Amino acid sequence: MTYSIGVDVGGTKIAAGVVDEKGAIVARTRRDTPSRDVAGIVGAIVAVTRELAADHDVDVVGVGCAGFIDAGRSRVMFAPNLAWRDLPLRDDVGAATGLPVVVENDANAAAWGEFRFGAAEDVDDMVLLTVGTGVGGAVILDGELHRGANGIAGELGHMRLVPDGQYCGCGLRGCVEAYASGTALVRNARAAAQGSAAFPGSPERLLDLAGGDAQAITGPMVTQAAQDGDPLARHLIAELAGWLGAAMGSFVSIFDPGAFVIGGGVADAGELLLEPAQEALWRNITGGTHRPFATVRLATLGNDAGIVGAADLARI
Ligand code: BGC
Ligand code: NA
Ligand code: ZN
Repeated sequence: MTYSIGVDVGGTKIAAGVVDEKGAIVARTRRDTPSRDVAGIVGAIVAVTRELAADHDVDVVGVGCAGFIDAGRSRVMFAPNLAWRDLPLRDDVGAATGLPVVVENDANAAAWGEFRFGAAEDVDDMVLLTVGTGVGGAVILDGELHRGANGIAGELGHMRLVPDGQYCGCGLRGCVEAYASGTALVRNARAAAQGSAAFPGSPERLLDLAGGDAQAITGPMVTQAAQDGDPLARHLIAELAGWLGAAMGSFVSIFDPGAFVIGGGVADAGELLLEPAQEALWRNITGGTHRPFATVRLATLGNDAGIVGAADLARI
């Protein structure tokens, strides 16, 4: 058995694991993500890698990051929701650890994990959407990760849904991410709690969970309230799912995948997200009932998908 390390660089934590050829995590560690500090983040990636490599004989390291990675799998060129610009992560981490390193987009890594060892093991063509701070995307065609000419294919969260719509972290307007991310969910929940007439239902339960402060509402609070049956929270999640379904309708036309997999923090809402997303997809399919099209599934590897996928992609 050979081992590789997968590192998942998230906004709040950096999670890493030693992964075997069958996708099993045999050891793991984590650090809090140093906020707003690029050197600190690189240092934390190096620290988790060294810690794991000290006890395991590993061949290679895969690092998944929330941004645009070059075709050489070496640099973070741009990250819509982070201050990362043209960061030579492969060489920095490689020099500090003495190990071969590849850098991957976080959603591509998660998709690869789900495709090889999780929710999409049974299909050859799949589209993954991760719904968190941003909306990540990944496309697997005929069993291979679709990377595009410059390494940046599959940025599905930045497909335009609404001309002149809401601003997105990427600087454009109307992206899927501006409507269907956890960030958009929280923005809407806070607006609703401050009395915006755009949303039906009472914000009482959400405000309760947030100690009375609309600005303190978080994504997990919206999920919690929805699971408790709160109509406003359910509406907010269903609305997000409606945007996802509209986007997936277009992705059916382009890719005709065998499955959609939805992951990320907001997928913790489970059926409350899945069902309206599936319904919205039905409404947005060209050719409607005269054609087969993909099922929508929840990711099954949860937070481990990014670790397992990055580690496995690093072997290729
Ligand atoms: C970024 C993607 C990333 C996604 C999820 C998006 O804003 O453009 O590169 O995969 O967020 O983190
Ligand atoms: Na991607
Ligand atoms: Zn965008």
